[in-house]
Amino acid sequence: MDKIIRKAVFPVAGLGTRFLPATKANPKEMLTVVDKPLIQYAAEEAVNAGIDELIFVTSSSKRAIEDHFDKNYELESELEKKGKNELLKIVREVVPANVTCVYVRQPEALGLGHAVLCARPVVGEEPFAVILADDLINSGGNCVLAQMASAYNQYHASVLGVEEVPAEETDKYGIVDPGKTDGRVSLVQSIVEKPAPEVARSNLAVVGRYILTPTIFNYLEKIPRGAGGEIQLTDAIEQLLLEEKVLAYRFEGKRYDCGSKLGYLQATVEYALQHPELRDDFLEYLVTEFGQGAKKLVQAINH
Ligand code: UTP
Repeated sequence: MDKIIRKAVFPVAGLGTRFLPATKANPKEMLTVVDKPLIQYAAEEAVNAGIDELIFVTSSSKRAIEDHFDKNYELESELEKKGKNELLKIVREVVPANVTCVYVRQPEALGLGHAVLCARPVVGEEPFAVILADDLINSGGNCVLAQMASAYNQYHASVLGVEEVPAEETDKYGIVDPGKTDGRVSLVQSIVEKPAPEVARSNLAVVGRYILTPTIFNYLEKIPRGAGGEIQLTDAIEQLLLEEKVLAYRFEGKRYDCGSKLGYLQATVEYALQHPELRDDFLEYLVTEFGQGAKKLVQAINH
């Protein structure tokens, strides 16, 4: 029988050094794209894929994330008193009633692999998703995690969300060597963390979406520290490959690296230009300030 993916792990305990000073006291995952923090986009993606348990791996400076997903009685009663029902609905719907949030602490930022391992007691022995909120993916309603979950249900193997990156940027990503391919799905033959362009086996990069079988925990427990002195999820996947099939899935959607300032700005502009309340005024502003070229740019974005 198919095991449905019910749990998603959100590692949010990183230091976010690329975004300092914004992330000195505020979590990177609470950076806002137009009107929602990154972590809410990630949680919505999980919920849209049918997940009903959200497991956040947090650290001491990330309390704002817990507050964001908790009930805010004072705010709700004020909005209710003032009859601001639309805002009340927005606040109440941050997490649907059937969804549970669980928080696990990562005591030290020992790497993404270590953060995922911290979730083991909550995940248990079932397949689960991992979402990195700073990789924001706009898939125009075709939820990326749902695309990957259906690949999981078809092949019963771990699924890594991948996209093609410029050949000179392989040293920023985990890069897979794709084998037998069926449509968007390829069997992964090998995976290497941040290979130099000269030695990279492809330009297919793993971005922040994973569906993993619980076998991964056995390897996360054993692997030594890898690149950057951190326990790397990629290294554990490399070991997992020797025991189980692992698939790469070329998802449909546009990814923004919101952990970098440039990616964050691109996401902000493009999401604003698709936002029902803002797009017309924002476009008018762009055209007034930057001329008709801005209009062409917007048309290209909306295609
Ligand atoms: P990043 O590689 O983006 O690291 O982590 P970072 O620390 O957040 O940011 P920079 O590179 O210093 O700017 C990828 C994801 O893994 C989480 C991060 O929160 C992010 O979502 N992570 C990373 C942890 O939860 N724990 C860690 O020890 C490291």
